[in-house]
Amino acid sequence: MEEEEGEEYLFKVVIIGDSAVGKSNLLSRYARNEFNINSKATIGVEFQTQTMEIDGKEVKAQIWDTAGQERFRAVTSAYYRGAVGALIVYDISRRTTFDSVDRWLQELNSECPIGPSPLLIVARSILPSGVGAVTVVFLFMLCFTALWVSHSDTTVARMLVGNKCDLGNIRDVSVEEGKSLAEEEGLFFMETSALDSTNVKTAFEIVIKEIY
Ligand code: GTP
Ligand code: MG
Repeated sequence: MEEEEGEEYLFKVVIIGDSAVGKSNLLSRYARNEFNINSKATIGVEFQTQTMEIDGKEVKAQIWDTAGQERFRAVTSAYYRGAVGALIVYDISRRTTFDSVDRWLQELNSECPIGPSPLLIVARSILPSGVGAVTVVFLFMLCFTALWVSHSDTTVARMLVGNKCDLGNIRDVSVEEGKSLAEEEGLFFMETSALDSTNVKTAFEIVIKEIY
């Protein structure tokens, strides 16, 4: 008899960012405590399931890693489907990867919308001209349903990750820049190193705990 007491939770987390920022190594460092100095570009999609304990409950995170290179990427919508957490990674020693964060966020937002659903917008635009209490109550319920539906398709926890912080001597993006972008976009922020393990576990666990 296994898992008799308590429920199990499984959360999907995606890692995105330009090629060679260290996505695959962050995952292998977190899941297997491995680092590969010669790792090849990812083709398609890979994932690892990692278990952690929160408040005495077993929480499983299915962490998805895909290619940063467009030509190696699998169908995008399938990659994002059902994701409730995301790590958006750049390389602190390459500014171009930081400049790309906007584009990755756009893709994430369009695949996992956080804004109100179209239904909610329709309900809102009708509201001022609505007649009577019944209409208002009905529209309220509609809003709630719409919010709930849109929420169930939402990436709830997002973290901006500045990887390769071991390369401080050739840094191209300051910590402050990372922090302020994260603040603007409402993301958690952390600098990590898959090479020397700095903050890798913490970054993943903050995201997973936030979801939970
Ligand atoms: P794609 O699969 O092409 O999207 O790349 P990726 O983001 O998965 O990058 P990957 O993990 O393959 O790492 C690319 C290169 O950066 C490899 O040579 C790694 O050894 C190196 N690397 C990854 N993380 C770090 C790090 O924290 N510090 C340093 N110095 N190098 C790193
Ligand atoms: Mg990779």
